[in-house]
Formats: sequence, structure tokens, C-alpha cells
Amino acid sequence: PVTRCYNLELVIKEMAPDGYKRPVWTVNNQYPGPIIQANYGDRLLINVSNKLGEPSTIHWHGIFQTGTNFYDGVPGLTQCPIPNNGHFLYNFTVKQYGTFWYHSHFEGQIVDGLKGPLIIHNPKDPYLKEYDFEYVITLSDWYHMPAGDIHPILLSPSYLGGDPIPNSGEISGIGQFNCSDSTKKSCNPNNGVATYSVKKGKKYRFRIICTSAAAHFIFSIDEHPLTIIEVDGHLIEPVTLKTIPIHTAQRYSVILNANNSIKNYHIRAKFTVCTPIDNNQTINYNSSVNYNVVGILKYEGTKAKTPISKPYPLKTSDECRDVNPNILKPYKLKPPQCVTHKISLMVAFGKLATTGTIAFINNSSFVPNNYYPSNRKIINGINLHKFSQYENAYGYDRYFTNANDCKDAAVDIYITVNTSRSHPFHLHGHSFFVVYNGENQTGLEPPHPSSFNLIAPAFRDTVTVLGNSTTVIRYYIDNPGVWFMHCHMHWHLIKGMAVQFIELPSIIMNMTIPQDVFEYCAS
Ligand code: C2O
Ligand code: CU
Repeated sequence: PVTRCYNLELVIKEMAPDGYKRPVWTVNNQYPGPIIQANYGDRLLINVSNKLGEPSTIHWHGIFQTGTNFYDGVPGLTQCPIPNNGHFLYNFTVKQYGTFWYHSHFEGQIVDGLKGPLIIHNPKDPYLKEYDFEYVITLSDWYHMPAGDIHPILLSPSYLGGDPIPNSGEISGIGQFNCSDSTKKSCNPNNGVATYSVKKGKKYRFRIICTSAAAHFIFSIDEHPLTIIEVDGHLIEPVTLKTIPIHTAQRYSVILNANNSIKNYHIRAKFTVCTPIDNNQTINYNSSVNYNVVGILKYEGTKAKTPISKPYPLKTSDECRDVNPNILKPYKLKPPQCVTHKISLMVAFGKLATTGTIAFINNSSFVPNNYYPSNRKIINGINLHKFSQYENAYGYDRYFTNANDCKDAAVDIYITVNTSRSHPFHLHGHSFFVVYNGENQTGLEPPHPSSFNLIAPAFRDTVTVLGNSTTVIRYYIDNPGVWFMHCHMHWHLIKGMAVQFIELPSIIMNMTIPQDVFEYCAS
């Protein structure tokens, strides 16, 4: 293992990812941001310089940060925001491998472009011999109005609509906006198409990352079935699908066998926003949005320019949901067979007297507004993590009262969604087993553990909880820290659809935090 250094400069730059020019929040002047790569066991030293003119933090999505909770990049929970012209050195070791990504966790910067792939290789990856080359594909929705302009409309008490509608979608940062909408100045209708070239007879690993603000995608490549080998940074027993549903923040590695005729094929990324839409009220509602984003898979040697290829039929059952967690069998990994802790969360939308529609989890709406330790709240008389104000916090320690036969501490989190549409929930600091992924339960009755899949359920870090249903995730309590869990649809996160878990507080209390972590905290 070695130490790898990266310099990420956060800067706003005019760009036109889908043909329409707007300011984009970039990393090193690039959107999507540059690929960060390392090998299993390496240390990453990432210096983030903030030139945005506003604060920022960077989160390493899917990285467990064991022992380095304070480099998890969540403002108000694990660090104070990096001010404009400030810089922050993230310093952590990766004992994981697979497909990850990084993104800003500050306000709406993730929507405006501050995100990129993070790939951890393993020279001993058992699937290395299954492919010859690899590519990274990012999927995203794209909005022409900066998130900072959308927020006040969305959060205003008079707003009654659903989530904002994207103007377009992108494959690896390239989209095609229909410029005929005359209100759009400086628009290029021939923006180009993301193209991946392959050699007949070779096999390719595509690492697909859904980096969207809110949209759910269905991904496919015409006339090429895709064999999934990795889910959210974990290998699985290979499973072959023609269409792959992927929600915001999820990742899949697939193997494509370039064994078809030498020509061009469409790569397809169809997206939807999984929210009820009120046409009259919804921000940016626009019937001309093209929800079918395309790219090109180009066989070397073909003279043709545009693909003529046959799409796989889309299944409506793929919409706004995950690949069935019961077919994503982790490679050599079993879930805990019993648990020592149980936490139930009820997710809903609602209103307070002074607010518009906001999100609640167990009747509390998360407000990430208190960044400074001078204002921190103290829980149990202990200044637990020096940042967190413990809004919507759930604590669990290794020691438990409901003693049973389990030899390891493990928790079941019941996430019950009391809204009509689904939500992709992400937990920091862990991957979890999706032991139950319910659908349309009557009366939101909690599932009985006898119906859990404890054989080989999906192991991942982001799961789509279906509308009016409960999903149960299970994991070992083995990573001390303050970990955020939230819906990864940005418009729901800023409405407060989030909680934090205080995991193993007795160990956190004794954790030494490097002094420079506090550099930008008011004293
Ligand atoms: Cu990628 Cu807190 O999230
Ligand atoms: Cu949500």
C-alpha cells in the first residue's frame, strides 16, 4: 500500500454539459470531477482548496472512514465547512475496493456539479480475469437553474408542487438539451454524445454510478445483456440483466461481452423523478424534457456514425425501485443472524405553521444549520463529537439491555415510508444487508423477522424504500462515529429527510481528533 495525493480545487466555471451554458460547480475545472483512484489498503491524502466563493465540504460516498469519522465530510456533523479560500486535507485509508464517488455535502452544490468517481482497485479482485478493459459511466439529471435559486422557491410556504423537474439528463457529463425552447440563449443543439469504443471479442467492465440529484435511471445497452458483478463497492455472485434500475447514489459494475456485430449500439439511460408532480406548481415543469438520455457503444472498425440498434423493452416494474435485493447475492458474505438493537424510523412529509412542505423522520425534521462547536448541544453531559448538535439523533452502544444469544452487536433499522413514492436511503459509515424490502404493506404493519432474507440479501450503502412500505437494513455495530443517514434525493435532504446515528459513543468519546480538523470552527 502507498499514499496517494490529490489536489482538488473547487471552482465555478461556465460550461454547457447538455448544450446549455450555465455556471457549473466544478472540481479542477472539470464536470464531472476527475476520477480519484487508489488500490485496496492505500492511504488517500486529498487536499481540497475551496475557490467557490462560498463554504463547502466533500463526502467520500461509500467509504467507511473507520477511525476517521472526522473526514466523512458532513458539515455540522463531522466537520466545520471549509470557507472560501480555505483548504482542508482529507486523510484516510481505504480497506475496501469497488466503485465509489465523491460529492459536496454542502447545500445544493451536488446538484450544480460538484461530484466525481472514486475507484478503488484490488490487484487480487477475483473477477479481474473476467474482463480486458474498464470504463466509468456516470449518470445524472441536470438543471439549468442553480440549486441556490431553486431552494427558496421549493421551501417557500406558498409552494405546493413536488420536486423540481430536471431540464435534461447526462451520461458521463454529456447530455442533449432541446434548444428549440426559445427562452434559452447560448444553447448548442448538437452537443455530442458520450461514446465508448470496444473491440470485438473483448470484455469490458463498466462501472456505472448514478450521481443524480434526484432522478432514478433505467440503464441498458442495446443488444448486450449486462452481467452485474459489483453493487455499491461489494462483489456479488454474477447476475445477468438486460435493464438495470439504478437510483441516486447507487453503483453497479457490469461485464459487457463485445461479441455482437461490428456496428454502433445505443447506450440508454431513461430517467424519472420519483415524486408526485403537480404540473401547475412544480418548479421547471416542462413537457419538452427528454427523459431518454443516450450514449453510443462503438465497435472499432465500424464506419457508421449513428446507431441503428434494438432497445430492450423497459419494464414498468423497474421504475423508481431497485434491482431485487434477493438476487444480488454478496460474494462470500453472510448477514448477522441475530440483532441486539432495533431502531424504527417513520418517514413522512408535513408542514409546520411557518414552513412549506418539509420532511419528517419520527416527527422531527433535520436542520443542518449549526456548524459551530460554540453552539453545540451536549448529550448526556458529554461533548460527544465536538460538532454535532444531535438533531434527530439515535445512539447505540455495544452494551445492550435486551441481552440475547447474539455474540456480536448488530442493529436492524426499520425504515417505513409513509409517502406515496419511493426514497433512496443512504447510510454513511456502513454498508448494510437489505434483509427486507417490502411493498405496499397494509397499514404500514412492521414486517415480522421471520420474513427476512438472512441467507444472501444485497449488501449495499443505498437502498430504495418503496412508497407506503417498510425496508429493514441490518449491520454490525462496529464503526464508532457520528453517521448521517438520509434520503439521497437532494430535494428531500434539504427538506430535512435525515437522521444521525451516534454509533458506539463510549468509543467516540475517547477518539483523538487531529487539531487541524477544527481549523475552521469558531472557537
Ligand atoms: Cu452520498 Cu450523505 O451522501
Ligand atoms: Cu426522498
